[in-house]
Amino acid sequence: MSSFDSLEDLSYGEEGFFPFSTASKPHHSTPHPSAITSAAAAASKAGSSPSSVSFEAPSLLVAPEINSSRDVERVMSNQEEGRRVVTWAPAEGGLNDDGVFLTWEDLRVTASSGKGGSLPILQGLTGYAQPGEVLAIMGPSGCGKSTLLDALAGRLGSNTRQSGDILINGRKQTLAFGASAYVTQDDTLMTTLTVKEAVYYSAQLQLPDSMPLSEKKARAEMTIREMGLQDAMNTRIGGWSSKGLSGGQKRRVSICIEILTRPVLLFLDEPTSGLDSAASYHVMSRIVGLARHGGRTIVASIHQPSSEVFELFHNLCLLSAGRTVYFGPAAAANEFFAVNGFPCPSLRNPSDHYLRTINKDFDQDIEKGHGVIPTAEAIDILVNSYKSSTTYQQVSRRVVEICKTEGRALDKKGSQASFLTQSLVLTRRSGVNMYRDLGYYWLRLAIYIALCLCVGTIYHDIGMSYGSIQARGSMLMFVAAFLTFMAIGGFPSFVEDMKIFGRERLNGHYGVAAFVVGNTFSSIPYLLLISVVPGAMAYYLVGLQRGIDHFVYFSLVLFVCMMLVESLMMIVASIVPDFLMGIITGAGIQGVMMLNGGFFRLPDDLPKPFWRYPMYYIAFHKYANQGFYKNEFIGLTFPNNQAGGPPTITGKEILRNIWQVEMGHSKWVDLAILFGMVITYRVMFLGIIKVLEKVKPMIRSLLTVPPEKSPQVVGAPSVEAAA
Ligand SMILES: Nc1ncnc2c1ncn2[C@@H]1O[C@H](COP(=O)(O)OP(=O)(O)OP(=O)(O)O)[C@@H](O)[C@H]1O
Ligand SMILES: [Mg+2]
Repeated sequence: MSSFDSLEDLSYGEEGFFPFSTASKPHHSTPHPSAITSAAAAASKAGSSPSSVSFEAPSLLVAPEINSSRDVERVMSNQEEGRRVVTWAPAEGGLNDDGVFLTWEDLRVTASSGKGGSLPILQGLTGYAQPGEVLAIMGPSGCGKSTLLDALAGRLGSNTRQSGDILINGRKQTLAFGASAYVTQDDTLMTTLTVKEAVYYSAQLQLPDSMPLSEKKARAEMTIREMGLQDAMNTRIGGWSSKGLSGGQKRRVSICIEILTRPVLLFLDEPTSGLDSAASYHVMSRIVGLARHGGRTIVASIHQPSSEVFELFHNLCLLSAGRTVYFGPAAAANEFFAVNGFPCPSLRNPSDHYLRTINKDFDQDIEKGHGVIPTAEAIDILVNSYKSSTTYQQVSRRVVEICKTEGRALDKKGSQASFLTQSLVLTRRSGVNMYRDLGYYWLRLAIYIALCLCVGTIYHDIGMSYGSIQARGSMLMFVAAFLTFMAIGGFPSFVEDMKIFGRERLNGHYGVAAFVVGNTFSSIPYLLLISVVPGAMAYYLVGLQRGIDHFVYFSLVLFVCMMLVESLMMIVASIVPDFLMGIITGAGIQGVMMLNGGFFRLPDDLPKPFWRYPMYYIAFHKYANQGFYKNEFIGLTFPNNQAGGPPTITGKEILRNIWQVEMGHSKWVDLAILFGMVITYRVMFLGIIKVLEKVKPMIRSLLTVPPEKSPQVVGAPSVEAAA
């Protein structure tokens, strides 16, 4: 039994999420008859003889059927006759309240190729996606499918330039942060969670507070079942360190998470990668069901769909090297290829045929009638034929119509859960992740224990001699600087968290503040554990000042310093997302702070410009050292070995004269300043993310060239040039 078999009787509320019952499933094991009959039927409707079908472009066959601007092309299944018919049917409801019409006109994307040159990626694409339909983007690897999806979803990289109009419901609107959902080509998932946990946490994060928890759980489980993952529900997702789900299963988890809320506009980049043909069919049929029955607009890039999967698509956008080879009803593509001299051989999957015809990466020749022509030439023929076809004119006309009808602006809000719910769920999820990820805190705890044992044995029973003053100072400095420095060890895990945050944030699952709150509160128990257990070992083995209040202060400073280093690393991660570069940057910053923290060079000896003012006051080591020193030395009296001095020296005198500590405030003020710095650093992190979110679209719009000033593309010949 396949993982999907048990789902036949499931439905999704009133919408009925399983549109393809066994009876209505297309049964074609070979692909072509459907398309041929569709052309025949269309031809007979248009008043031409069926025999003319194989020689006429599909657009010519359906053109007379367009009567009004409200007509849209549709592929309707004719179950009784066991064939599919290409017809034109009025759009259901037109620009209704919930539906999203997405159009793009003369869309060009270029990437900078160094030396001031630019590389064309997309070359003047025009098309649309509308509610209730699935648009499939197909083409050879590297033809620009992901780039098109990124451009439509407003997520192009900063080294690309874009021109042309992308409109949502006829309006210019920046997508992202919850306005649409996007399942990207790479799966970025929390590897320590099980499938059930990942989807359930996501449901809690995105679904409204008014929905009972049991219902959220049921929705999560049902979505998991819809994606055929019920057998892997309790399997951990797994990553590079521990094997968990298979690639195809991870893909389905990514889809689950994004379809939980039934988004009105959904982008999917190769949702069926890594899936077998049966799983691909089931996954795609559910996605098509979401569009068809929920009135959602879905754009999906897809590699190598089986003929059954191909028949599920409404519209097809076929790209080759960034140019449109075909955009129109998926069922009519077959005739388009046939008419242009590339008929699909019998017993071959049409999508395989299209891709083989237009893939020039391997410079293979394709057969054409009696002779052979190069692939590049075949592509030019198809591209030019499409540009001069009525299908192209219809698509352009449809785009203009949609653009003219200005609909409602798309709601930007993503998650419907409250800030409190988001923070609580994120705290719990992050806590679970930290608990299960050995590299986050457990390894650090072990290293801290080892290091504190080293400190404890090297400074063991430090005593009250004059020499112990220097030893105390060094030991406390080591704790303030090097033990806290070790907090950098969690950076790789945090970078992974940031990747997940980046994806979820772009899809509007929660806000930056909720992420910061979740990360802060979930780390507190672990940091407390690390500062108390190894801290106690070092403290009592060395024999620092007795009294629990002194130890509590010592642990608190250690705790807050570790939190501070983590906050600093969060800021680093927001600017330098690569973990190796981030660790080097973070270590460098801390090295500088350590150097002018008042130990390696006494405060009065620090050069006044820059190092004393302001660096000495910015370095958290200053406050940590001074707090530790006050905690340890105040109340103690040491014998004085200095010639000519009094027989004893008090702790306060040591602080003032030897360590040059500021005695105007108590140790608690130092601790409070450290806490204040933690909050400042975390707010800075939040601010940086927010600013980057605002600035990035501004940079993008600056790089977006108005259509009339489109950059002159170089490299591959453009459609116009070829024509
Ligand atoms: N930022 C960029 N800088 C330079 N080249 C880029 C950039 N983005 C994309 N490209 C190039 O543009 C082309 C299209 O890339 P894209 O990722 O869109 O392909 P794709 O159709 O999604 O391929 P695949 O099916 O393998 O995922 C590729 O040749 C790629 O190298
Ligand atoms: Mg891609």
